[in-house]
Amino acid sequence: MFTWEFATDPYPAYAWLREHAPVHRTTLPSGVEAWLVTRYADARQALADQRLSKNPAHHDEPAHARGRTGIPGERKAELMTHLLNIDPPDHTRLRRLVSKAFTPRRVAEFAPRVQQLTDRLIDDFAAKGSADLIHEFAFPLPIYAICDLLGVPAEDQDDFRDWAGMMIRHGGGPRGGVARSVKKMRGYLAELIHRKRQEPGDDLISGLIKASDHGEHLTENEAAAMAFILLFAGFETTVNLIGNGVHSLLRNPGQRERLQASLAAGERGLLETGVEELLRHDGPVELATWRFATEPLTIGGERIAAGDPVLVVLAAADRDPERFADPDVLDLSRRDNQHLGYGHGIHYCLGAPLARLEGQTALATLLTRLPDLRLAVDPADLRWRGGLIMRGLRTLPVEFTPFA
Ligand code: HEM
Repeated sequence: MFTWEFATDPYPAYAWLREHAPVHRTTLPSGVEAWLVTRYADARQALADQRLSKNPAHHDEPAHARGRTGIPGERKAELMTHLLNIDPPDHTRLRRLVSKAFTPRRVAEFAPRVQQLTDRLIDDFAAKGSADLIHEFAFPLPIYAICDLLGVPAEDQDDFRDWAGMMIRHGGGPRGGVARSVKKMRGYLAELIHRKRQEPGDDLISGLIKASDHGEHLTENEAAAMAFILLFAGFETTVNLIGNGVHSLLRNPGQRERLQASLAAGERGLLETGVEELLRHDGPVELATWRFATEPLTIGGERIAAGDPVLVVLAAADRDPERFADPDVLDLSRRDNQHLGYGHGIHYCLGAPLARLEGQTALATLLTRLPDLRLAVDPADLRWRGGLIMRGLRTLPVEFTPFA
């Protein structure tokens, strides 16, 4: 597991695990032993189980794996006190604060901007008749969108693009470059927060600074960690939603034609159910982020000891035939689709409305403006990027009839 060969098609292995070892103890490449939970019912329960803490302090890291487990919290501790690494009551307080600044209204107001960004990126490669949709489209779109939302000025956004690029390319690899990028981002965010305190704008960072909970303001460090997790959680996920989504549509021409016909008729229904189905069928988040048992507990009949890491395999749960009819079939009109692609419980994806907006805008615009979009390589030659948490394509070369 966790190699690119595995990432090419992990689903048969997940089917085997679901059937034969639904709660399975394994040794990760880092040397850490962790439990993999693959059935939908167990996964949903585990995601909401408050005895499973998000705080890495609950994990006794074995000496031989120290420093290379990939368990967050060991890197740049000050940026790591964010929503995905904390439990109530801190989680409740910080989530309430950011929810105020991250309302559905703000996301809806953002729709014209996402459309404009989408069109601009397509304009940049339209005349070529070919593109790598990961680097030229799926990658820049969410980074510019989140920068706008946070209030990062346009002239600084390309720096973010570089830092994020470093983090995505080397996420599980050499540490030096990633650590430098995180450091630069941290320094920049501290400065930006300082500036927004002096001159607030109509952006999320200013909103975060202003937002108060029972009169209690965010500390500057908490605000920086929040901005960091919004970037980090909202970036590679969306890249892969668009990349995996376009790939699935190109590999399922019948479904893609249905969607194109419905968009041409001015309908939104199939686009909305379709993006949810693409998330269920081949979603960006393969495994939910780390959880650690705070006391002995039982999942699916297996006894988990206090301190043990538990990894919920969302990609396996979302193909569980006990929950979804014909789970391996992509059906864009699927109605009964309570997938776990955005997680479940108190850590349910805060950015889901933004992710939906970006995913729907990106796919609808690509299929409408590039109606004969097709893969430019043999599907067997596509390379997937595996890892512990995310799964997505390294490149997605496409062709289409060029236009000015
Ligand atoms: C949490 C998926 C986009 C911000 C999560 C979790 C999942 C997820 C599975 C829960 C992880 C866990 O419980 O361990 C996705 C997917 C996305 C996406 C599939 C895109 C298709 C975004 C965007 C943002 C965002 C665009 C923000 C700009 C967050 C935050 C959390 C989170 C802040 C932590 C919430 C908490 O702990 O309370 N996301 N996400 N996500 N996501 Fe997303």
